[in-house]
Amino acid sequence: MSEDLDNEAGDEAESASGTERRSFILEASTGLLGVCLGVGPVIAGLWGFVFDPFRKRELPSKYNTGSGDVKEGHYLVATTDSLPEDGTPQRFEVISDKYDAWNFIPRQPIGSVYLRKLPGDLEIELEDGSKKVLKKGEIDCLQTTCPHAGCSVSYDGNTNALLCPCHNSEFELSGAKRTVGGKDNPSPRSLDRLDTVLKPIADGDNMEIYVEFMEFYTGVHEKNPVS
Ligand code: FES
Repeated sequence: MSEDLDNEAGDEAESASGTERRSFILEASTGLLGVCLGVGPVIAGLWGFVFDPFRKRELPSKYNTGSGDVKEGHYLVATTDSLPEDGTPQRFEVISDKYDAWNFIPRQPIGSVYLRKLPGDLEIELEDGSKKVLKKGEIDCLQTTCPHAGCSVSYDGNTNALLCPCHNSEFELSGAKRTVGGKDNPSPRSLDRLDTVLKPIADGDNMEIYVEFMEFYTGVHEKNPVS
């Protein structure tokens, strides 16, 4: 009889402890679910806020690719039909989408260039000191930024040169430094030449001109791109 009572008490104790365990697991699961539901949106919001600028930088910039699939960093600037045959340089803005930390701003000017259709062959010196001949009719592209201190050069039809108004540097249309009448030319190097890529537009001879646009450090002899 006493043994039966002991067994009964044991079963009751075991059953009570099982009920407590189940209730603890249920409460813990409910709590965890609540935390997930509450914290999940906060984490998702933070993720979007913190990483949004990086995501935006990965967006394709449709304004810098024009109609062709050109390389990254090339910008559609003009067409060959817009350049005179006599080699007079034409100034064009380079337009691209811009990003700052958290904003996407479409179609902003990021710089400018002078383009010209060469009226004759032109021998140029490359950065490594070697020479190269650009052929008549090819497109030549120069940065408008003066390598001295970063002012903008402009074409002067009277002297047929590119002049910098800040400290009177003068450049040939080829970009070479020009020294006129013994005047000092403070620019440490010639104007910076940029590469171009031409792409045909449907039928005809007209071509799109893409410029591999970049900035270079001023005040130094070497042509070092600003990264
Ligand atoms: S910035 Fe052009 S000459 Fe000084």
